[in-house]
Amino acid sequence: MKKLLFIACLIFWKAAISQTLNIIPEPVKGVANEGTFTITPATKIVLAGQGAQKSADFLNTYLKEYYGFKLSLSKSAGAEKNVIILHNANDAGAVKGAYSMTVDKDKANINGDNEEGVFYGIQTLIQLLPVEKSMALAVQQCSIEDAPRFGYRGLHLDCGRHFFSVDFIKRYIDFIALHKMNTFHWHLTEDQGWRIEIKRYPKLTEVGSCREQTIIGHNGDKKGYDNTKYCGYYTQAQVKEIVKYAADRYITIIPEIEMPGHALAALTSYPYLGCTKGPYQVAQKWGVFKDVFCAGNDSTYTFIENVLDEVMALFPSKYIHIGGDECPKDAWKTCPVCQKKIKDEGLKDENALQSYFIQRIEKYLNSKGRAIIGWDEILEGGLAPNATVMSWRGEEGGIEAAKQHHNVIMTPGRYVYFDHAQSKSEDSLTIGGDLPLQVVYNYEPVPAELNPADGHYILGAQANVWSEYMANNRKVEYMIFPRLSALSEVLWSSKDNKNWDSFLTRMQTQYKRYDLWKVDYNTKGITKDE
Ligand code: ACM
Ligand code: ZN
Repeated sequence: MKKLLFIACLIFWKAAISQTLNIIPEPVKGVANEGTFTITPATKIVLAGQGAQKSADFLNTYLKEYYGFKLSLSKSAGAEKNVIILHNANDAGAVKGAYSMTVDKDKANINGDNEEGVFYGIQTLIQLLPVEKSMALAVQQCSIEDAPRFGYRGLHLDCGRHFFSVDFIKRYIDFIALHKMNTFHWHLTEDQGWRIEIKRYPKLTEVGSCREQTIIGHNGDKKGYDNTKYCGYYTQAQVKEIVKYAADRYITIIPEIEMPGHALAALTSYPYLGCTKGPYQVAQKWGVFKDVFCAGNDSTYTFIENVLDEVMALFPSKYIHIGGDECPKDAWKTCPVCQKKIKDEGLKDENALQSYFIQRIEKYLNSKGRAIIGWDEILEGGLAPNATVMSWRGEEGGIEAAKQHHNVIMTPGRYVYFDHAQSKSEDSLTIGGDLPLQVVYNYEPVPAELNPADGHYILGAQANVWSEYMANNRKVEYMIFPRLSALSEVLWSSKDNKNWDSFLTRMQTQYKRYDLWKVDYNTKGITKDE
């Protein structure tokens, strides 16, 4: 009996220990063992084979920044004590990002099925580090097997409404990596600003990257304008630097060049691109504008193709996002050139003209080996044959596209729009109602309406971060944290492993890690927009 009790206690104790593995997103399988392994400046990183260098560099950069020391690298394990061994199995058939990891008293052993797997093993190791600065970092001994649930794990940032520095974009990319996510959707052109240098069309940045002033508060607040010129754009050299920075973290950047709507900055730069030929003005308030690219004029398509040529040269991503959302058809209805195009091409109406526009650009990008992503409005008037749909107005667009056997990325406003307030009592300026942490956590990207075969067209999901009311870095961080942690678990963890209570417990450590990162997050609160 005593022995039984002892065993029962042991099991209970083991179970209690295993709850101390504090990893977000929750791994497929994680078992904590008794004891720790301590990382000190004397610990070595062993690169066992090819494909671990970037992961080692990431760990060292992280250790240096947050703990003040780096580890030396070695190619062979030697005595195999006090080492972090990074091994890449290079298994071509494995899930991208799968890895296993063991930590015993002498070492941490990370075995990636592929390079991405090694990298995510490093992210897990980082999650196991203490949240206080120290030169002796005790890591729980454990054994972990892990792989992502979805192949597409995205975060977006609107750099059109507000412009964010290269340094902040890099920090943002680090946040994506630290949450085991792999895609940065970079929204680069808007009514309120064109943010990417295009050498063939210098006015896009000379003119289009500046607005004369910005509305104060919401459009309807009647508080006037700030009377301050607002400018910003990324040079091609900076874009290249950022693309490499992301690639070093196994993150693909999908650039978005908006068309046919949200184009006022481009039209102001080159008024021949619009139906009325202007004059136009880079927008100073938020919303949807009736002046859009003229869809009848062939020179519009030439312009866009030339822009996309430069974009493709900068971004290796298979996907180019072409926008497609919120394009009013008013200007096209009264434009003789657009009406002639409708007639000449035998199109039914202006919706069909939008579809013609998108399909023409898709054909161009496909001819260069790329594929388009568009917001769910591209379903209207007929979907371009190879398009991937980003479902934002709800889940319906994604459901419809998947039923038509098109790939889908889910970004429905109700669940993953991080520009919405985190609580009803939010008193900083936001838009679109509230989206609490738990709603994000409980989001299921594969709609129940889809049968299993069609469900496979859901590649994953993404949170969107529209910046009308995010005028600085701090506000962006305040809006994405802690919801980014919840999203990471939606995208990475298996459905069975998700548990709100466990997540909240693990978040107690994660909040301290946010403090280590010096990010602003919601529960700390900024009380006014600043
Ligand atoms: C969007 O939020 N307009 C895609
Ligand atoms: Zn027109």
